[in-house]
Amino acid sequence: MPPETIIITGASSGLGLAFVQHYASLPTPPNIIAIDNQPFPPQIAEQYGTTIHFHQLDITSAQKVQDLASTLESTPVILILHCAGIRGLVPGIVAQQKQGDKDVAATETLEAMDHATMMRTFEINTWGTLNIIRAFLPQLRLGVAGISSKPKVVILSSRMGSISANTAGGGYAYRASKAALNAVVKSLTIDVPDSGKRKGRLGWRRV
Ligand SMILES: NC(=O)c1ccc[n+]([C@@H]2O[C@H](COP(=O)([O-])OP(=O)(O)OC[C@H]3O[C@@H](n4cnc5c(N)ncnc54)[C@H](OP(=O)(O)O)[C@@H]3O)[C@@H](O)[C@H]2O)c1
Repeated sequence: MPPETIIITGASSGLGLAFVQHYASLPTPPNIIAIDNQPFPPQIAEQYGTTIHFHQLDITSAQKVQDLASTLESTPVILILHCAGIRGLVPGIVAQQKQGDKDVAATETLEAMDHATMMRTFEINTWGTLNIIRAFLPQLRLGVAGISSKPKVVILSSRMGSISANTAGGGYAYRASKAALNAVVKSLTIDVPDSGKRKGRLGWRRV
């Protein structure tokens, strides 16, 4: 049987990279479609060889994401781990802060937040999520046929996206983009006919 295929976004750093390394280390590793706008660390690509298929692209580009999905037209996908995202800090204020004297909260306050940061954060964290998941729905549906368990979509949200858990204020761009992402995922679980608990063939996880 050919190896199964999974997609990991945000694959070049942090949690996405850790997931890539985890899956690539399995005794029978899946084919890993790794996506990020930063280059993939060459030493890790070398270590795991042909298991990792890296694509450097911006997840907010409808055209580029669709082009990639088209190249995987007949490939069943059993898992999407969506880790690409940004923290939504105002770049100008981040740049002013001295190395070793960083104050993250100060870069996303009521006074600091600006239109460009808010829009860019929404574009990546919210639109980018919808853009990625919608583009690969056909491959997830193909994955339904091939395995006994459901294909899964795991989307990294954040506790900062919870309105009820917000007791500290600030974090305008990140909080709003993750709350909006949560709303997107909720609608996906309703709109995609073969997903959700009741209808249950695709599994959705927002973590
Ligand atoms: N780390 C935590 O403690 C934590 C806690 C709660 C939730 N999360 C969520 O978990 C996810 C991963 O976090 P992380 O800490 O692993 O972040 P990270 O290290 O910054 O990794 C995210 C990756 O996504 C890439 N990316 C950003 N915008 C992109 C775009 N438009 N197209 C393609 N790739 C893009 C980033 O590239 P750039 O370097 O160019 O931005 C980066 O390589 C994020 O959604 C984050 O909000 C993280």
